[in-house]
Amino acid sequence: MQKQEFDGATLYLGDCADVLPVVLSENKVDALISDPPYVLQAGGGNLGGQRKYMADINRHLDGGFDISILQNFENWLVFCAKSQLVEIIVQAKSQGLNWMVLTWNKKNPTPLTCNTYLPDTEYMIHGYRKHIWESKTRFVVGNVEKNPFDHPTVKPQYVMNKAVMSASEKGDLILDPFMGTGSTGVSALRLGRRFIGIEKEPKYFDIACQRIENALSQGVLF
Ligand SMILES: C[S@@+](CC[C@H](N)C(=O)[O-])C[C@H]1O[C@@H](n2cnc3c(N)ncnc32)[C@H](O)[C@@H]1O
Repeated sequence: MQKQEFDGATLYLGDCADVLPVVLSENKVDALISDPPYVLQAGGGNLGGQRKYMADINRHLDGGFDISILQNFENWLVFCAKSQLVEIIVQAKSQGLNWMVLTWNKKNPTPLTCNTYLPDTEYMIHGYRKHIWESKTRFVVGNVEKNPFDHPTVKPQYVMNKAVMSASEKGDLILDPFMGTGSTGVSALRLGRRFIGIEKEPKYFDIACQRIENALSQGVLF
């Protein structure tokens, strides 16, 4: 397990199943905010099988995640595929939490529908005990953006800003156990939060370290 420390952020290279106990023993995390591996369904109405980058997605990002990780937190916001919605809502209910489905609505979705709805919506589920956060809307709208990083599922910054503002307050400590290139961390720092990120792929961990360093050099909104 490798650890890189920044002003207000700590990034770990490793499997979150191994790193999480260490993080929880040393910190009081206020919110888990994450874009974990989705469960994608290729074929049928799903576009997955047709995407050029599907091989990359399958290798690193598909297959879902162990949602029991959420049990450790009373305030979590996770992105998910439609096929994961029920399971994650059941998780919130089993923890006795309030829950809300939020959406990212894409103005420029891939136009292919395969005889079903357009792929213009992604879901976030927010499980929470007490809602005191900055942003109260249930949706964010904008374009899918090309990103300069070598990672197939980087979330746009405006989407992560929305997630951070929906589930935390200034000064909070946010954990992303499936950090990818660090988009949650960039929003967290820019919006005056603290951040812990975990990523198992060295290539993405290195990009995240660079992005966090850049965000800090550009200043934060305390
Ligand atoms: C959907 S991507 C997150 C992308 C991120 N939102 C971004 O904007 O870059 C999920 C990430 O979780 C990582 N991952 C998957 N399983 C993991 C695990 N057990 N521990 C840590 N990271 C993991 C993958 O390598 C991938 O980069």
